[in-house]
Amino acid sequence: MSEFLPFVRPHIDEAAIVAVGEVLRSGWITSGPKVQEFEKQLSAYFSGRPVRTFNSGTCTMEIALRIAGIGQGDEVITTPISWVATANVILEVGATPVFADIDPVTRNIDLDKVEAAITSRTRAIIPVYLSGLPVDMDRLYAIASKHKLRVVEDAAQAIGSTWKGKRIGSFGDFVSFSFQANKNLTTSEGGCLVLNNDDEARLAEKYRLQGVTRSGFDGIEVDVLGGKFNMTDIAAAIGLSQLPQLDAITARRHALARHYFAAFGADFERQTGVQQPLKDFENTNWHMFQIVLPHGVVRAEFMEKMKARNIGCGVHYPSIHLFKLYRERGFKEGMFPIAESVGRRIVTLPLFPAMTEADVERVCAAVRAVLV
Ligand SMILES: Cc1ncc(COP(=O)(O)O)c(C=O)c1O
Repeated sequence: MSEFLPFVRPHIDEAAIVAVGEVLRSGWITSGPKVQEFEKQLSAYFSGRPVRTFNSGTCTMEIALRIAGIGQGDEVITTPISWVATANVILEVGATPVFADIDPVTRNIDLDKVEAAITSRTRAIIPVYLSGLPVDMDRLYAIASKHKLRVVEDAAQAIGSTWKGKRIGSFGDFVSFSFQANKNLTTSEGGCLVLNNDDEARLAEKYRLQGVTRSGFDGIEVDVLGGKFNMTDIAAAIGLSQLPQLDAITARRHALARHYFAAFGADFERQTGVQQPLKDFENTNWHMFQIVLPHGVVRAEFMEKMKARNIGCGVHYPSIHLFKLYRERGFKEGMFPIAESVGRRIVTLPLFPAMTEADVERVCAAVRAVLV
């Protein structure tokens, strides 16, 4: 039997290993010149906008909310289909998460439902680009501007994605990326925030390191409550080794996603009842290839049967509002029916640059064998 195929394998090549070795030998292993260089290159990548790095894509969003002054008494609208981090950061700053149901085709937040959820207390929207597929960015920013709302884009999965030819992150309000192990560009753990101006960037620096500000020779002052969220030079070195490869990584992911559609074939949805992802080869970075199983198929059983064929699958994600932490805050079954249904049936199939076309065909054959 062929060897186990995981749903993701981090992209770590010799360049990353050499770069990390250099940092480890240098005597400076925390935030230093590599972080500065990584931020400079990321800023160039995002059309010159200010960028600051952090040790996760979660704290980047929390810090964006803090910079925007969002807290107690404020409402923030987001999607129920995301990693729980997206909603947790809203609670973390003391604000109230308000969910809006998803669009069943894109699986992203439904912008009509965002508009319907806006109240006098709404201060921000956190859209998530699931699998790297952006929402309608024109419409998102039209809503934000009409209602005077801040936007914290949870672009954790969307590095390399675009909107009308422009890179996600190169325009908009706050844009947050994750460099966690599974992401298209990884630093093992880490993240970055694209900001609007230097004042916000200075504030981001304070929030990521205990609120410390440097003033004068050897002088230090603390004037906001910050945390410990800085990226290390070890992580930045991995990121620096990957950034020049990002276009090639995205192209390889596109090729594999195209191969999935070809290998499943035109009649696949009719034959199996599976819903494939939106066939978008313009904007998406193809961070994941996700299918939604037909009603009546138990996902855990499907995944077990795939595992028996030596294929790993993932679940991204169950609907956040049904977790105990959120149920205890008044959310319940029936509130977001599309998210609930998709959250129970969505499955992530293997997709990573080192996979081969033959691997894709093996996955497709296994899905067919399990379902038909
Ligand atoms: C959509 C989404 N939001 C937020 C996060 C949080 O990022 P991190 O794990 O880097 O904190 C992730 C990554 O896991 C994610 O996929």
